[in-house]
Amino acid sequence: MTGWVAGLRTWTISLAATVASSYALDAWAATAGVAVVASGLLAGVDRPWVVALLVVSYVAWGFGLRTNLRANLTLLATTGTSTNVLSKAAYDLTRRTTGNARVQRLAAAVGYVGSQVAAEGVYYAGAFGAATLSDAVTGTDALLFLAGANLAAALYEYGLARLTATFLRRRPRRYASFDTDWVPAEYLAGYYRAVEPDEVATIAFLVEAVRGAEPDQPVLFFGVGPTLHHVFAVAEVASEIHLGDFLPANLAEIRRWIDRDPGAHDWRPFVRYTLQCEGVDHPTDEEIAAREDLTRTKITELIRVDARHRRPVDRRYPTVISPYCADSATSDRATWELYMRHITDLVEPGGLFVTAALRRCRGYTVAGKTFPGADVDEHDLRAVIESAFELVDGSIRVRSTAQDASHGYSAIVLCQAHRRPNQARASARREKSATTAAQPLHHRGER
Ligand SMILES: C[S@@+](CC[C@H](N)C(=O)[O-])C[C@H]1O[C@@H](n2cnc3c(N)ncnc32)[C@H](O)[C@@H]1O
Repeated sequence: MTGWVAGLRTWTISLAATVASSYALDAWAATAGVAVVASGLLAGVDRPWVVALLVVSYVAWGFGLRTNLRANLTLLATTGTSTNVLSKAAYDLTRRTTGNARVQRLAAAVGYVGSQVAAEGVYYAGAFGAATLSDAVTGTDALLFLAGANLAAALYEYGLARLTATFLRRRPRRYASFDTDWVPAEYLAGYYRAVEPDEVATIAFLVEAVRGAEPDQPVLFFGVGPTLHHVFAVAEVASEIHLGDFLPANLAEIRRWIDRDPGAHDWRPFVRYTLQCEGVDHPTDEEIAAREDLTRTKITELIRVDARHRRPVDRRYPTVISPYCADSATSDRATWELYMRHITDLVEPGGLFVTAALRRCRGYTVAGKTFPGADVDEHDLRAVIESAFELVDGSIRVRSTAQDASHGYSAIVLCQAHRRPNQARASARREKSATTAAQPLHHRGER
């Protein structure tokens, strides 16, 4: 589906959901308000108690709204749709103008609550209008009507939140395809305008991990995407850097940065943060530019790789770094394990492997499209790594990132480990005896 058609579809669905939801809420809340007054159950209650009830009803409504705002944000992030078009408009607009997930969340919430508050004005006008125009309706009746309507609205918001969560859990997943739907610029705009919580943790971990890398040796990045934010951390330690990805479009994006194309992505915030992790408290512009230049000179190969192949690259490396690749390339657990085996087999005996995965994530969103997540956690990672790699305390870490609303995951798993020398030899033997049918897919890039 083209971006234009997909956009129209999400707007159409959101509009229909908004109309249906507004009618349902109004019918339910107004009926509840009228029922409270007509039942006469609270007819003799003094005005101060009625006011207190009204306050309580607003608090309940606030809690209901808060629950549904969370559900609405997840709906927006994972499907691009909403049960409130104003909320969707505010969310989409801020996504275009800022990479700050907090601002996007706030905008979606303001859109949602704003429309509810405007509707509340209509209820006030209706209730007090009736009290003014009709002798049969008193001011207390108007307050009781509003309290009843608010309590019903609170229940409605809770119910809608539950319904949304159930829908998101049960809907059949249709994942976007790397071959046809992946747009490097969309990924960069959605994830790398600023250093977000997952990268705060990942880059700090990487800086620490590469201290254990063998110096002055080549380093391979496997599944680097169109990104460089992890690469700056190895520029000093590596003799040369080889960047591998499945998509030529991703490698072309990296090429633009190497060539200083004016339209290339700006990685300076990530370089600054990398230097800070290395102990430079206030990196200067010159220090940042120097690290960029060093990285450019160290990148000697752009390689097309495919984790589906038994030997994705025709050599091994003393250091292989592969964050958010295997786990973010498939939704199938067995395929993830296979990719991990193919990637880790590229690590030399005694060599360092560093990886990262979206924790328990079944799909992450890029410009409204959901790409597959392998739904793995720290135990899964340990299980695929430990037979061939030395795991010590702190080798595998979990970091909470709370990015479920903006990207579709709330935590990450980080891992660094050295390959056991004996296990590496065993793996080499295994490989030798394995079928030779799988040809290495190794397209050297432009260098
Ligand atoms: C979410 S991106 C991660 C990119 C980068 N590592 C990062 O941290 O931003 C997932 C990457 O996996 C790559 N990928 C998908 N299928 C692959 C495969 N079969 N072999 C190797 N890489 C693959 C995609 O091209 C994409 O760049």
